Amino acid sequence: MDQTSLVELKDKISSTYNTDELAKLRLLAFGRKGIVTSYLKSIGTLPVKERAKAGQEANNIRVELENLLQQQLDKIVSHKESIEDVDYIDITIPTDVTYGHSHPVMAIIDDLVKVFWQMGYQVVNGPEIETEWYNFEALNMPEGHPARDMQDTFYLEHGNLPRTHTSGVQVRWMEEHKPPIRVISPGKVYRNEDEDARHAWMFYQVEGLVVDKHVSLADLKGTLTTMIKGILGEDIEIRLRPSYFPYTEPSVELDATCIICHGNGKDCATCGGSGWLELGGAGMVHPDVLLRANIDPLIYSGFAFGFGPERIALIKYAVPDIREFWRPNIKFLRQFP
Ligand code: DAH
Repeated sequence: MDQTSLVELKDKISSTYNTDELAKLRLLAFGRKGIVTSYLKSIGTLPVKERAKAGQEANNIRVELENLLQQQLDKIVSHKESIEDVDYIDITIPTDVTYGHSHPVMAIIDDLVKVFWQMGYQVVNGPEIETEWYNFEALNMPEGHPARDMQDTFYLEHGNLPRTHTSGVQVRWMEEHKPPIRVISPGKVYRNEDEDARHAWMFYQVEGLVVDKHVSLADLKGTLTTMIKGILGEDIEIRLRPSYFPYTEPSVELDATCIICHGNGKDCATCGGSGWLELGGAGMVHPDVLLRANIDPLIYSGFAFGFGPERIALIKYAVPDIREFWRPNIKFLRQFP
């Protein structure tokens, strides 16, 4: 008996889960040319005194293979039965499966990214744990500068802080890249605020920066108009009001006509009757900020802006409390398509 083919055959039988395949293996054992049949035939050629022992061995192998084949067949049948047991349709199972969707603030950020992509902007990232240098000093806010108070800061050890705004990304990008620059940077910021319906200790900002030759305030206004109309609708207008940020000169505040009363203002609770909603800050990049990044302000100029997508989401979806966005409240979040 060829022991190697016998072992192989046994292995094949035990790993076969198909009845047709199993029938073929049965032929390999007991068919006309099967290994048991061939062995039995070969016994006749052995010396007489060895025949009884060989016959006994052939019989043992035959019984062993028969058992193995039967066992495997039983396994296949019982496996099939167990599948058939559960293979039915339960028409009572509820079919109103709920699917996940984008968080409303992320959806606004995605819309913004799309609008800026169309204008040729690149999306870049900065670290959430920032140094005082990038968060303040490089933006013309040395230690003790009163403008630091505008942003209540959580301080960490070794002069680090969770960034209070995304404006530090401007500096980091300018240090590494030469003009023309056209980037936006969405991300989380942190403030040591007393929370209320309009203030949260963590929220998102979208920072923008453009540096090139001949960039003007008119370009800034055109860009912000395109952005606001792109995400809130063509009928929305913007206005720029004089403001102050240490890192821009001049500085402006960005307002959009209220999407609830369409600028009418009368009895509108959303805009407090003014017809306008405040969305963020912007301005022409201060020459000192350019200089610090080795960009010559006599050759290049730039504009920058920063605003909060939550504010846009609040208005767009008429949500009364900004804190709702970051509470783990699935009922609230499911309302947004
Ligand atoms: N960083 C400001 C804030 O957090 C927003 C801002 C204002 C960003 C003017 C700018 C800018 O880039 O030029 O309120």
